[in-house]
Amino acid sequence: MPRPSQETVSNQALRRHLLAWLGDALHAQETGGLSWHWSAYRSRHAWAPSKRAIEAFLLAHPPSTKDLLLIGGSAGWMMSSKWLCQFKTITIIDIDPLARFFFQYVHGADLKHSQTSWRFERRDALQELPQLLKEHPQALVFFDNILGQQCVRLKDEVLVERLLSHIKKTLEGRDWGSIHDLYSGRIDLEASFAKGTLPTPQNLSTFTCQLGEMAQETPTGMANGATNDVDAMPQHMILNGIKRSFEEGSQMLLQAVNASGEWKDHLSVEVFAPDTPSLMIPWFFKPNYCHWLQAGFVPSSSPR
Ligand SMILES: C[S@@+](CC[C@H](N)C(=O)[O-])C[C@H]1O[C@@H](n2cnc3c(N)ncnc32)[C@H](O)[C@@H]1O
Repeated sequence: MPRPSQETVSNQALRRHLLAWLGDALHAQETGGLSWHWSAYRSRHAWAPSKRAIEAFLLAHPPSTKDLLLIGGSAGWMMSSKWLCQFKTITIIDIDPLARFFFQYVHGADLKHSQTSWRFERRDALQELPQLLKEHPQALVFFDNILGQQCVRLKDEVLVERLLSHIKKTLEGRDWGSIHDLYSGRIDLEASFAKGTLPTPQNLSTFTCQLGEMAQETPTGMANGATNDVDAMPQHMILNGIKRSFEEGSQMLLQAVNASGEWKDHLSVEVFAPDTPSLMIPWFFKPNYCHWLQAGFVPSSSPR
């Protein structure tokens, strides 16, 4: 059996590299890429109220450092230029090789004006998180709508839950924050029209939120041996200062946007430690499809 020459091996590696580059440029493993840039550009007016709510949240948390490590920043279509301009240096990490050009288009002029220097690195931020933290020991770390996407990218529920619940441990002793999808799904436009309660991007309501410790549910269907799945969920949800069961709180969030049908769980409920203060922001991704985003900051002095 003839052995492949050195040249064939390096050609194969180059081909693999080019295909990976192209795939990430087109769809970033289903989490971004050209398809994201196109829908973000087209939806920029519809998304503006959620973007304003994100900006208000960010500006309410003045950064403790002048350096920012922005993870999954993409072009920053939903990101606040005003918040970014407070930093002296920004390092954006994203797997999408085109993100740097769109980031320049969206934020370049403002960052030039504020004399913020920024650079882009194409890396897998989650795989390389410990290394990135070492390279940027003083930086505030912000996950910019990336963590809720990992269920789409990795397609392995157990792996994603383990990965997302472990991130806070890796970040212990660091100032960090995240905005991520918690749930998403369809909204019932007809019923909303009929009730005259159409939630629109213009009248969106946000909720302050704290999720309690995780409680294990009884394994479903164990008695008849159908499945041994165990669904874990927080014991409670404090919404706008009122403590409710998790089910009751989720129902409130779903009703607030006239949710219909089954919603997608983005497996990100354990990103923050229990009782971390956060803000729930609705994001009308499409006219009939909404995401509940959870945004929060964790100070380095946090006990967990
Ligand atoms: C929904 S988009 C983020 C949108 C961005 N916050 C904005 O406002 O435009 C998710 C981004 O995360 C990036 N991404 C996903 N997994 C990643 C990973 N493991 N490492 C680095 N970037 C990743 C994708 O390439 C994509 O640009």
